[in-house]
Amino acid sequence: MVVDNHSAGWLSKGFPWVYPKELARPVRSLQPGNTVQLQGLDGRALGAGLWDDGWLAVRRFREDPGPLDAALFHTLLQAAASRRRGMIPTKTDAWRLAHAENDDLPGVRVDAWGDDLHITLDSPGLRSLLPPLTQALIELYDPARVTLGWRCDPRDKQRTELPSSLLHRRPDASDASPETHQRVVHERGMAFQVFPAGGSDAGMFCDMRSNRALLDEFWSERSVLNLFAYTGAFSVFAAARGARRVVTADLAATAIRRAQDNFALNGLEPDRWEFERADSFKLLDRYRRRGERFDLVLADPPPFSHGPGGTFSIGKDLGRLSTACLRIVEPGGLFVLACNQGTVAPRAFHGAVEQAARKAGRRLHLVLDGTQPPDFPAAVHFPEGRYLKLGVWSVWGSP
Ligand SMILES: C[S@@+](CC[C@H](N)C(=O)[O-])C[C@H]1O[C@@H](n2cnc3c(N)ncnc32)[C@H](O)[C@@H]1O
Repeated sequence: MVVDNHSAGWLSKGFPWVYPKELARPVRSLQPGNTVQLQGLDGRALGAGLWDDGWLAVRRFREDPGPLDAALFHTLLQAAASRRRGMIPTKTDAWRLAHAENDDLPGVRVDAWGDDLHITLDSPGLRSLLPPLTQALIELYDPARVTLGWRCDPRDKQRTELPSSLLHRRPDASDASPETHQRVVHERGMAFQVFPAGGSDAGMFCDMRSNRALLDEFWSERSVLNLFAYTGAFSVFAAARGARRVVTADLAATAIRRAQDNFALNGLEPDRWEFERADSFKLLDRYRRRGERFDLVLADPPPFSHGPGGTFSIGKDLGRLSTACLRIVEPGGLFVLACNQGTVAPRAFHGAVEQAARKAGRRLHLVLDGTQPPDFPAAVHFPEGRYLKLGVWSVWGSP
């Protein structure tokens, strides 16, 4: 398959994708999942990948013309493991083994939930990789179970999510269906209940681990409001590390129930702590009207949300959310904001908070800047790799 000079230049720098418009000649009779050999207009070999019929034409898995076999995946997974060696905190068994393009496995994520492994594929066109990939995972990790899930890219508009499935089970492991199989995992000694095959609803966002660690020193004696709390991972650490008050708020009743279960799992009596099943904007408004203040307000919103408080889009509404948060932070308190959308540039993220400070009449100082942990590395030749932003600001002046 011959690609144009633009694509050849990017492939030579390590970028793993070829877009349909970069094919130098029309391609006939290829099916998604077929292996293709890439070539420049000058005949130079540019590696081997898999053909797809979506917004990407080819994902490249190796820079030489060799096969996409178990030996290749063994090598790539071992390289990914070496990059993480000594970088996963102790008493932590929930982490990402392979982070797609950033570990030279485009479209392929592998997460470890204890000794359960979960593969997430970006496209049905990657299905042909499953036998060699699963074989390599079994050889390297002897997992209890290997499950498969899908995360179809929104740019592949015609595709819908496929159900998860069980690819491998050790004889001693649970034979529960992927949807019902639950287990307890740990992050720096704290326990959390997860559904390993739950994909983005597994129960824990491991890419926030280092940010949770950044905040360790800040919880003690503080009153904390955790907005968009999901299953309460930040709240569990806050309560365990000495916060005097923790309000865990989320719109979803199931998230609140799971957060309460996580408190109980860690010996934190749920009745001693507060849980609010509420829209963040409505709750912020209620606290502002009552004159209620917190020493630390944390907001980790999803990209989009439709709640009783209206529609929220992270690209447009970070400023509005920040203003509402800043109005209820005690003078001398802390505001923590996260954004997991790569399309929101760090400059726009910080700009939204700067504008919100002006609007709320507060003076802010950035005291900590966070990003992804080492098991979510960002390859420098893959511009989309660095997506997670988190800031901690000290907040001064009266609201
Ligand atoms: C990205 S997750 C938050 C992850 C969480 N901070 C953690 O560390 O695990 C987004 C959460 O926001 C909740 N949510 C979405 N819209 C909301 C709204 N308008 N008000 C409150 N919660 C909302 C969802 O139910 C979901 O649990």
